[in-house]
Amino acid sequence: MAGSGDRRVRLVIGIDFGTTFSGVSWGLDGDLGDLGIEVIQEWPGKGNSTTQKVPTVLAYLKKGDTFRWGYQAEGMANAVGGVKLLLDKSKEVLFRPAIDSELIIKGLERKPVDVAGAYLKALFAHAKEILDRRGIGKLMQSMDVQYILTVPAVWSDKAKDLTKQAACHAGIPEADLYLLSEPEAAAIYSMHTIQPNSIKKGDSFIVCDAGGGTVDLITYEITQTDPIRMGEVVEGTGEICGSVMLDERFETFLKETIGKQSYQKMSASSKQHALQRWKVDIKPSYSGPDDEDDLLTEVYTVPVHGIPDDQKKGIHQGMLHMKNEDIKSIFDPVMERIESLISDQEKKAKKAGKAPKALLLVGGLGASEYLFNRLKLRFKKLDIMQPQNAGAVHRGLEGDQVQTRKARCHYGVSMNYNFDRKKHDATLAYWDIYIEKWRVPGCMTWFIKTGDTISEQDPISHSVFRNVPLNFDFRFKDTLSICTKEESPAMENKDVVKHCTLHVDLRNIPKPLFDRRRNSKGLEYYHIAYELVLKPQSACLEFEVVFNDVSYGVAAARYY
Ligand SMILES: Nc1ncnc2c1ncn2[C@@H]1O[C@H](COP(=O)(O)OP(=O)(O)OP(=O)(O)O)[C@@H](O)[C@H]1O
Ligand SMILES: [Mg+2]
Repeated sequence: MAGSGDRRVRLVIGIDFGTTFSGVSWGLDGDLGDLGIEVIQEWPGKGNSTTQKVPTVLAYLKKGDTFRWGYQAEGMANAVGGVKLLLDKSKEVLFRPAIDSELIIKGLERKPVDVAGAYLKALFAHAKEILDRRGIGKLMQSMDVQYILTVPAVWSDKAKDLTKQAACHAGIPEADLYLLSEPEAAAIYSMHTIQPNSIKKGDSFIVCDAGGGTVDLITYEITQTDPIRMGEVVEGTGEICGSVMLDERFETFLKETIGKQSYQKMSASSKQHALQRWKVDIKPSYSGPDDEDDLLTEVYTVPVHGIPDDQKKGIHQGMLHMKNEDIKSIFDPVMERIESLISDQEKKAKKAGKAPKALLLVGGLGASEYLFNRLKLRFKKLDIMQPQNAGAVHRGLEGDQVQTRKARCHYGVSMNYNFDRKKHDATLAYWDIYIEKWRVPGCMTWFIKTGDTISEQDPISHSVFRNVPLNFDFRFKDTLSICTKEESPAMENKDVVKHCTLHVDLRNIPKPLFDRRRNSKGLEYYHIAYELVLKPQSACLEFEVVFNDVSYGVAAARYY
């Protein structure tokens, strides 16, 4: 029976919420023994055929909250796709379906986070139904359930927080939710597919997760082999230059080739046919030219119903004949972006004395033959591999294999310090009536600096103190700021960007525990010292409030 032994059974559910496709996998650990990991392959609207992923598409029906999702929503009027990209406002969205989706969502008077939440709720409900069919559903009450949700490593913390909110909206308890960075999930999974004797302690490798929307890269070093432990060698990087950019470029190519006017005249379903041909047949199978002569070879045809014949343009009987060089010209700028991201990681890792041995290519675009061929030519010293990816569940079942990570920016809080004429601008100083000293606001205390090695096992603790009147309500706000410049400034300035507000609630602490003081004027006040503890998780920072060595829970963070 589940939960009958000493150790409660753990159920780990991994959710891969992608720009174009999403997936769910689950695994158990504990008394039920190792039942392996199931990657869900049955989806509503897909009948008997199986596939590991379901489209990240949702379409609301007329009015109200009912909607279709996944395969059932594909091709429907007002279908919303690419909603994930709308969660990160700090990145410019150039992907047309996501831009169209933004308008549809606005028209529905909803926010992207609501739609992402609705989609995740449906995905999660489906996963539960599958678990029911496997006889696990009813036992869930007696199990420790952990949900692992992957997010791009390049996401802003605000976007990660919105993803978290969407998951909570889907009914996933926040306390059981862990955000995992996508390349990290890939690294963990890849370690299972690589021959154990081919990796040694000290080896480093680059993971390039090229998905639909984002391309995320991180370089890891193997710090231990049995069990495998890894650490980040250099900070991860990435961009929104995934496979949907190729779709976007194909549409532009089509428009330019047949002419804007003719393109506008094409019916929506004809355009859809042409795009499907690109997405399903051409893009995934393109492997590049064999040689220069091969560039002019006609390799694919695309249906362009209703467009008149034009020999020069290669249009014949409603078909556009695409040459090898046409497809190459669509791919190349995106391939060059990816190559330059890889080259950056390689350079940085070499500089850190950890030259990478291998490159693991994962994600939909990571499976591209053309990308693989180009990378083999360009990065001759790297062993290039394309393992299948399903890492989130492994992270849950096997614990934290990535033990150290590199901070991507400086994180700090602005504090008031005692005035020091050597360091501070006297015009900023103010008189503190409680401690009777000149103080200066806006002094930066940096918890974490860019490139610092951070680890979930080593929370970073920082003392904060405040002097408050006796009738204070014991709720504080601390502002966490970030700086992406190389140097972290000593004082707040334009490079210090407000990142989130941490809400610290000390109302539950009995007042006698606070340090009550009286100054020379007889003014009584509380001097309250607490610790803000930052736990750097895979994809986000978690903040805990500690007073007198007792944890008072997580400080709620509201992002700017
Ligand atoms: N062989 C291939 N070559 C190029 N693109 C491919 C190939 N196979 C699949 N794709 C594309 O990859 C994308 C899906 O990949 P994946 O599932 O990794 O992305 P995602 O999880 O939706 O996106 P992201 O992780 O960026 O949010 C789709 O755009 C699909 O058309
Ligand atoms: Mg993905």
